[in-house]
Amino acid sequence: MAEPSHSLRAAAARVIQAVEQGQSLSQCLPPALLRVAERDRAGLQALSYGTCRWFHRLDAELDQRLKRPLRKQDRIIHHLMMVALFQLRFSQQASYAVLNETVEACRELNKPHLTGLVNGTLRRAQRDGEPAYPDSGTTLSHPLWMREKLRHNWPDDWQAILAANNQQAPMTLRVNARRTSRAAYLARLAEAGIDARATRFAPQGIQLQQAVAVDLLPGFAEGLVSVQDEAAQLCTGLLDLQPGQRVLDACAAPGGKTCAILEACAELGEVVAIDQSAERLVRVDENLERLGLVANVMAADAGATDSWWEGTPFDRILLDVPCSASGVIRRHPDIKLLRREADITPLAAIQLDLLTAMWSVLKPGGRLVYATCSIFPQENHRIVERFLKQQDTTQLVHIDAGWGRDMGAGRQLLPEPDSHDGFFYAVLERVAP
Ligand SMILES: C[S@@+](CC[C@H](N)C(=O)[O-])C[C@H]1O[C@@H](n2cnc3c(N)ncnc32)[C@H](O)[C@@H]1O
Repeated sequence: MAEPSHSLRAAAARVIQAVEQGQSLSQCLPPALLRVAERDRAGLQALSYGTCRWFHRLDAELDQRLKRPLRKQDRIIHHLMMVALFQLRFSQQASYAVLNETVEACRELNKPHLTGLVNGTLRRAQRDGEPAYPDSGTTLSHPLWMREKLRHNWPDDWQAILAANNQQAPMTLRVNARRTSRAAYLARLAEAGIDARATRFAPQGIQLQQAVAVDLLPGFAEGLVSVQDEAAQLCTGLLDLQPGQRVLDACAAPGGKTCAILEACAELGEVVAIDQSAERLVRVDENLERLGLVANVMAADAGATDSWWEGTPFDRILLDVPCSASGVIRRHPDIKLLRREADITPLAAIQLDLLTAMWSVLKPGGRLVYATCSIFPQENHRIVERFLKQQDTTQLVHIDAGWGRDMGAGRQLLPEPDSHDGFFYAVLERVAP
């Protein structure tokens, strides 16, 4: 491997710049990790996630502190100072080290003329403490459109949602029911000294007290468990899987729910897993292989049924549509920077189109579960309501559950601190017209 070429802070500033320019953390972080020394990798990950999580609040502070914005070509130094501010405000790092290393990184980024500005700004930030912000939305660090939309959609919950979005999500496992039981695996974890408890709603779920690297989980490589949020695990119960059924997972990659389906019912007839991204399907294959499961994996646009459907209808369809991912911001804080308000209406159109297309491959008497990791009604029960209006073969199945809240046409989970992600489910059955 090549020698590390970037210091931790310069690398973090570059990651934040890449995210601001539209790359996701999962795109830009892996190559950045390879460019820093091994001892700095966990630090780079923490700085990148933390600075994205608090981006809007750090940005507001920096804007207040700078007399005028930096020139466009110096924007990287704005990001470098945000990384430093993140540490001053949200970490235990000694402030003299933060200041010294940030000035050093400013030189490394070929901006030696800005070291004085960086040093002065951060010194004042350290001396004066954090400023007051004009509104709780800035304090809770979300883009304006998102907090306004959430306030509008969830008038009683929006501040709790914003706060939950800023917490680190717990690490949750799904026990492979084909290989072991939850009780037996909890005992294995206890033996390994890993603190864990059973999840409240998902029957195979285990929530860890603290995240650990997957290779430290007993039997991970042998397929005893997978990492999956509790809300995502709930899909299998809703599908009501029975031996012999033909099941379609229409938007399958990276395969978390495909594998959950196969684990939940050993005698399914066939599971077809489709995704439009061949690149992301590689992860489906890897997950199936590790867990010792078999599915018919296909790269296709699920909506273009002519291109992949051979004519046999499905008993069960899981439609886990592409969405804003507004329910999983605590796991993907870069969503706050990447998503735009203008994305939501086109996404809703895609979601309704996919639902309509999937209906044509569902067997009469069959069941479809519509799922998103969104907390915007526009992508959730509003889609289902629109679909119900245009289809006379659809029957909505009431979800009787202890989790989430009843939205009429489906059930909504909001992100819960120290528990599940934000998620939406609706269950539809096909009846005679
Ligand atoms: C929410 S993710 C699915 C997550 C997956 N079900 C899981 O649990 O691991 C949505 C997926 O839909 C895929 N996708 C988007 N449009 C699609 C289409 N028209 N046909 C098939 N897959 C599509 C994306 O590539 C993405 O992998």
